[in-house]
Amino acid sequence: MNKSLRVFDNVVEAIGNTPLIRLNSITRDFPCPVYAKVEYFNPGNSIKDRIALKLIEDAEKSGALQPGGTIVECTSGNTGMGLALVALTRGYKCVFTMADKMSKEKVDILRAMGAEVHVCPTNVEPEDPRSYYSVAARIAKERGGWNPDQYNNLSNREAHYMSTGPEIWKQTEGKITHYVASTGTGGTLIGTGKYLKEQNPNVQVLGIDPDGSILKHWFDTGEVKPELAKVYAVEGMGEDFIPLNYDPQYIDHLETIYDKESLLMCRRLAKEEGLFVGSSAGAAVQGVVQMKDKFKEGDLVVVVLHDHGSRYVGKIYNDDWMKEKGFL
Ligand SMILES: Cc1ncc(COP(=O)(O)O)c(C=O)c1O
Repeated sequence: MNKSLRVFDNVVEAIGNTPLIRLNSITRDFPCPVYAKVEYFNPGNSIKDRIALKLIEDAEKSGALQPGGTIVECTSGNTGMGLALVALTRGYKCVFTMADKMSKEKVDILRAMGAEVHVCPTNVEPEDPRSYYSVAARIAKERGGWNPDQYNNLSNREAHYMSTGPEIWKQTEGKITHYVASTGTGGTLIGTGKYLKEQNPNVQVLGIDPDGSILKHWFDTGEVKPELAKVYAVEGMGEDFIPLNYDPQYIDHLETIYDKESLLMCRRLAKEEGLFVGSSAGAAVQGVVQMKDKFKEGDLVVVVLHDHGSRYVGKIYNDDWMKEKGFL
């Protein structure tokens, strides 16, 4: 078999090496090219396959995950999908907790992949015993499971330092000047940003943070203010605490985006670019458009599109839902 033509022995080997695809319509009046790192080409349709593999491999090495063991994680769905894929190929069981604002599709998909899923209320403090953080910790304790804790486990950002960063550097032949990504746990932004800045300290690392998250206030002022957190519609990004994967020395700027513009940008990406993406990808491209003044001729911008739109058909791509929420 010719493995240089992407022939694999199992689904896990197909993780990574996603394409960069130039945006041609939305950024038509930009002074420089903008390329999207389209992460839905991963087998679990999101960037999170990369971290799932690294989290599991590191836990196998440290002995935290034993043969036949149970993986317990709180996830907005994509990390769960990645963990489920890797777990299937290696004989582990998966139990996931999710916030109830997440798409029903995400829950169904995880269940289809053999995982046990617990849906928890969004509108409670992280310390509340009902929160998806607390429920995951409790189940891990009760069942002797391993909790990968993608928020505070540094294997998360390390996965991006080892794969996403080097891929973007090679794909742009070292010409990237601005790296843009929606940020949640911080893994994608910090791991990739660190790698790129080590190759060229002038690369600007620009994170996209939703209105209602506390990350931007923390980055700009150094203050952690959980009381500033509000519920928002874009999924998988923003936080109400500061995960350990953050390291502000690798961030140049965080840009605030709003739900309506971000979700409408998803629709434009589908119609104008043929890229059918999830809400954090629309948010990232909306952020790129808002930051247009930062870019000049000769620059090369890369923006990460974290996941596929199929998990959001009942929301972003449904006119009734969009109208009901006031986004159309
Ligand atoms: C759809 C989506 N977008 C963006 C992110 C944020 O990426 P990171 O957690 O690496 O900061 C996530 C992470 O959960 C996600 O699932």
